[in-house]
Amino acid sequence: MRELCPALATKTYFNYGGQGPLPDPSLEAMVSSWRTIQQLGPFTTEVWPFIEQETARVRQALAALCGVPSQRLALTENVSTGCVLPLWGLPWEPGDELLIGDCEHPGVVAACQELARRQGLTVAVLPVLELCCTSSQTDLPAAVLAALEQRLTPRTRLVVLSHLLWNSGAIMPIAAVAQRLRAHSRQPWLLVDAAQSMGAIPVDEAAPHVDIYAFTGHKWCCGPEGLGGVALSERLLEQAQPTLIGWRSLRHESSAASSFHRDARRFEVATSCVPLASGLATSLELLADAGSPAERLLAIGAGSRRLWQGLQSLSGARTLLREPPPAGLVSFTLHDGAGRPRRTAAVVEALGRQGIWIRRLDQPDCLRACIHITTTDAEIDRLLAALAAL
Ligand SMILES: Cc1ncc(COP(=O)(O)O)c(C=O)c1O
Repeated sequence: MRELCPALATKTYFNYGGQGPLPDPSLEAMVSSWRTIQQLGPFTTEVWPFIEQETARVRQALAALCGVPSQRLALTENVSTGCVLPLWGLPWEPGDELLIGDCEHPGVVAACQELARRQGLTVAVLPVLELCCTSSQTDLPAAVLAALEQRLTPRTRLVVLSHLLWNSGAIMPIAAVAQRLRAHSRQPWLLVDAAQSMGAIPVDEAAPHVDIYAFTGHKWCCGPEGLGGVALSERLLEQAQPTLIGWRSLRHESSAASSFHRDARRFEVATSCVPLASGLATSLELLADAGSPAERLLAIGAGSRRLWQGLQSLSGARTLLREPPPAGLVSFTLHDGAGRPRRTAAVVEALGRQGIWIRRLDQPDCLRACIHITTTDAEIDRLLAALAAL
């Protein structure tokens, strides 16, 4: 896989959680897909079966990874639209409460806040960051469930929680949260941001139990930017109305009078870029060739353990997690001899000048390096040496 990614040839790359590299065969699949569309003729009778085939191919692959039937999988543009389109179509009542994890992405939080403002809902916060930093991996699920228990009220109507937290790198016990919500009198909806989990860890134990499980193809799946998906629950498909509507939402695309698709396609909109589907399907096949999601997580875990352990022996480095991370996100801070935190933006810049790419985050202010199956031990050691030199 590494050899296939031109982006990795000249860099020491740790920003998979921002965007994954695109393997050459995926790029070639997109070019070939575009060429086929032009050769068959865009908007001809000949081209529709090809478009149908490529769309179905990526939909089936994503649905299989999520452990849901294809009918429950809508293709989207990115994580954010996968979260927002179904969320805004749910039946809300004034006074309903949205309970949002304190590690959620600003874009998703903003969409929830605006929904609350327009519909007269309230927003409450589920604190999990502190738990990630203080609990062991074994204790974390119970600690998260206890925090949830404390924050649930009779008005709770939605819980928003990422599967793999983008800042701390901890995994949330999504299946257990879903089970707890089913026992709540109002059966709150569960929205899971899967930006960091899809392609990085097995997701089929969580996704089938969630109402909205939204992800993108351009991060850990190493697909092109502009194509993602969302796995939706049966009850959501029964109760949510489409929000952004176009011909693809319709059961009969040429008749506005026809009803919306009964399945997840009711959240698809209109014309989109079919070659992206060919590219993402190819990336998913390449990842599958490298091992099952569980096998790949073993490789990722070995790399992030190596980095986490190296950081323990680096004076001035403090990891957010007390134990080696459960997946590929390793977050940490750097401090000078007097214990003062180093400016994270300056560290990112200094490493970038050496061709080493990590990122910083705002909340908490920290540095984050991501390990994928393409990361080598030599790269990890190079990062550690550069941090030591800093
Ligand atoms: C946790 C999380 N959620 C959402 C997003 C937004 O992703 P997208 O641009 O695919 O909507 C990101 C992107 O970094 C993310 O890390």
